[in-house]
Amino acid sequence: MSLHAAATLRGERVALRPWRDDDLAPFAEMNADAEVMRHFQAPLTREQSDALARRARLHVEQFGYGLWALEVPGRSFAGFVGLARVPFELPLPGFAKDPHEIGWRLTRAAWGRGFASEAARLALQHAWDALRLPHVVSFTAQANRASQAVMQRIGMTPRGEFEHPRIPQGQPLCPHVLYAIDAP
Ligand SMILES: CC(C)(COP(=O)(O)OP(=O)(O)OC[C@H]1O[C@@H](n2cnc3c(N)ncnc32)[C@H](O)[C@@H]1OP(=O)(O)O)[C@@H](O)C(=O)NCCC(=O)NCCS
Repeated sequence: MSLHAAATLRGERVALRPWRDDDLAPFAEMNADAEVMRHFQAPLTREQSDALARRARLHVEQFGYGLWALEVPGRSFAGFVGLARVPFELPLPGFAKDPHEIGWRLTRAAWGRGFASEAARLALQHAWDALRLPHVVSFTAQANRASQAVMQRIGMTPRGEFEHPRIPQGQPLCPHVLYAIDAP
């Protein structure tokens, strides 16, 4: 039995909701799309995709927040948006040791409509109102301008650069930019 009711957050057009079994197939399709995964080391296999969905689903069910499944008009599953603890120490001063990050991954058909930013604003509001977090970070490969544009649209500001500790140094994906926003 979960400790918290799994929260659904609703915006004008989008909803962040708990995961369902029928999300697994479109999630795997998205994670196998080389364009969606351009700024990651590789697309995901079906097994890797299912494992990621399982972790996200359990977290949302257990804690009432996390990487929620995203619903947009006309599409019951369009990817994920949400909050997760950073799984490594950020090598930058001034941040809690394990801050929460905000992240997003949308299926290509849902790009260019403002859905990621609308959903991210809902998740941030939850970070402040329900979780009472002091700040939220986000980071991405330097070349991922689309993701940095979402960070900027939701009011995050650049706080520095770092080499991602889980990507081999020298790889083009290793240099990352860090953004953050403080609780209002
Ligand atoms: C990162 C990602 C979510 C950004 O998606 P996106 O569609 O560019 O971002 P948004 O949903 O905020 O949409 C913003 C765009 O919609 C446009 N738009 C259209 N209608 C809109 C509306 N009603 N409201 C707001 N924006 C609207 C905006 O003008 C903007 O377009 P622009 O980039 O040409 O200026 C997407 O590229 C993605 O999933 N990438 C792959 C995964 C990834 O890299 N994730 C991040 C890893 S750190």
